[in-house]
Amino acid sequence: SQNVVAEIKSRIGLFPNFPKSGVEFKDIFPLFQSPSLFHKVVELFEENIKENHQEVKIDAVLGLDARGFLFGPLLASKLNTSFVPVRKKGKLPGHVVSTSYALEYGEDSIEMQTGSLKEGDNVVIVDDLLATGGTMAAACKLVKQLKLNVVKCLVVIELTGLKGREKLDGTSVYSVIQYE
Ligand code: PRP
Ligand code: HPA
Repeated sequence: SQNVVAEIKSRIGLFPNFPKSGVEFKDIFPLFQSPSLFHKVVELFEENIKENHQEVKIDAVLGLDARGFLFGPLLASKLNTSFVPVRKKGKLPGHVVSTSYALEYGEDSIEMQTGSLKEGDNVVIVDDLLATGGTMAAACKLVKQLKLNVVKCLVVIELTGLKGREKLDGTSVYSVIQYE
């Protein structure tokens, strides 16, 4: 599996100074040019859940706007469970729960429709990338407002130097590949 991970990593695009000077942007879209490799990412997520959380029934996969939507439904299908989107504010109709979180400048909110999940349900949260952890921490907060249980946060890429996982109050994180 180390080989597969190296192969996945070799498919991540690296763009210096995007979207601004001093940042090296990690682009996951080249991965989708290889069906076997994006399939493998979802399989690694599935294996992680099956190996570490065998005893729990996963009631839903939550995917984060926007690139968590690329992996979430595939994983939900593999786990034979439902997919629920967590979106940036103002995108979801009907009754929603919201939570706000700090950005570099100002703040933003994310929302989730209520109704499909109930108190005590077990969920996993999926996104493409963990950077500062602000987005994932907000998703965890949202899930706690609904009294759901987060079994795992799953990301393709973790920028370890930003220590995002420390923002998650001990919620367990699995990342397929890491950059300092
Ligand atoms: C990126 C990425 C994560 C988040 C990670 O999304 O897809 O969702 O940032 O950063 P953080 O750990 O510092 O919160 P972005 O905000 O660029 O939005 P997008 O998915 O709409 O492009
Ligand atoms: N790539 C994609 N999304 C991101 C990144 C990145 O390097 N950093 C923060 N969000």
